[in-house]
Amino acid sequence: MLPEIVKLHELIDIVITILDARDPYTQEHSFRVAEYSELISENMGSDTDTHQRVHIAAHLHDIGKVGVSDYILNKPGKLAKEEMKEMQSHSRIGYNILKRIPMFQEISRIVLHHHERFDGGGYPKGLSGEAIPFESRIIAVADAFDAMTSDRPYRKGMPAEDAADEISRHSGAQFCPSVVSHFSNMPQFSHSNALRTFHENALFSSVGHEYLMHSEMVHN
Ligand SMILES: [Fe+2]
Repeated sequence: MLPEIVKLHELIDIVITILDARDPYTQEHSFRVAEYSELISENMGSDTDTHQRVHIAAHLHDIGKVGVSDYILNKPGKLAKEEMKEMQSHSRIGYNILKRIPMFQEISRIVLHHHERFDGGGYPKGLSGEAIPFESRIIAVADAFDAMTSDRPYRKGMPAEDAADEISRHSGAQFCPSVVSHFSNMPQFSHSNALRTFHENALFSSVGHEYLMHSEMVHN
């Protein structure tokens, strides 16, 4: 157990409420990604410390969006190259915020790498394979799944089965194959009815700015 980190849940709540004031969709999204990430971690047989770390890091994974302009956060549709670079800066901004908390050294590193791709084509560092923190690899799958299945103001979310298929198609490229294989066998993610119930219980309905392919590094 990590009792000192558990006590910090109140602080985390304050921090994500600040983000909510800027971008309400991201907070709802972060709650769901935290739940999904913890479920995947449990299913993979991780220890309690890992569940807690992945849960907290998932809550905070997009906190760096406080440093992204409203215009880019709220822009519907495709982002231009420079806009995409600003959007992608959120993982480093989040890292820079969280690393100031001594207890969050590991959490900040997980947040820094949540958009790395298993094949090395992600950002900000272009890490590949197991060089990417395990918790970041879990969050990458949960994040993409929630982004695809959630309704947005400008489009309906994808059925859970289709989103799970899309993630499987990118196993070994964008996503860690070991995480994907556990994720694919979890009933919560493979049956839309089960997922719908999960969403209703979570009382969340929509999500903002995330795309499956937003993890591709933008080159100069
Ligand atoms: Fe993100």
